[in-house]
Amino acid sequence: MQLQIAPSLLSADFLKLGEDVRTLNAHADIIHLDVMDGVQVPNLSFGFSVTDAVAKVATIPLDAHLMICNPERYADRFIEGGVSMLSFHYEAAGRGTARLLEHIRSKGVQAGVAIDPDVPVSKLFRFIGKADFILIMSVFAGFGGQKFIYESIDRIAELKAEIDRRGAATLIEVDGGVGTDNIAALREAGAGIFVAGSSVFKGGDPAGAIRALREAASK
Ligand code: DX5
Ligand code: ZN
Repeated sequence: MQLQIAPSLLSADFLKLGEDVRTLNAHADIIHLDVMDGVQVPNLSFGFSVTDAVAKVATIPLDAHLMICNPERYADRFIEGGVSMLSFHYEAAGRGTARLLEHIRSKGVQAGVAIDPDVPVSKLFRFIGKADFILIMSVFAGFGGQKFIYESIDRIAELKAEIDRRGAATLIEVDGGVGTDNIAALREAGAGIFVAGSSVFKGGDPAGAIRALREAASK
């Protein structure tokens, strides 16, 4: 499976978002949209006004990562807004997780369930096969630019072993502190989709940074 780079717009310059989206269209595989409500996570980001605007310019798939309470209330609106991938947190959906995954899939959108670093990965084993992808947070959800939590590599390897044991096609997405220093290890552990915010945008050359991530991953 070809690796996929999913830059997070959270770290982009919102005054020139259109320009950044066009750059990502040409160089990235997916555009990652971090939606935060200030309750599920201790930060606010953006909502439909931004995601709808991005959808008008994006030519590559949009991946909305909902860090909000009651994700089932808003899932349809993101789907109508044109996302191709939609994930929400297990901590937010709890017992409603399987139902929401099924609902998202029934709309023809790839469904993902996300967990923070303090939730055992084994809690998600029951969603293997029900989710198209599982998002392993390698920082605590809420902010870009945090330090990568090294144990995430083992968590990904543990999940990947279980996915393989079941012969499932579920992909692993990793999000938080991903950069050229850890992408090869994350890939080796079994991640297939790599979210990167600061490592893509903070250097001022997103295209070059994406290229560097691809090169580092193949080493
Ligand atoms: C954090 C978000 C991430 C974040 C990644 O809650 O889910 O997508 O923007 O940013 P970096 O790559 O800077 O950790
Ligand atoms: Zn994210």
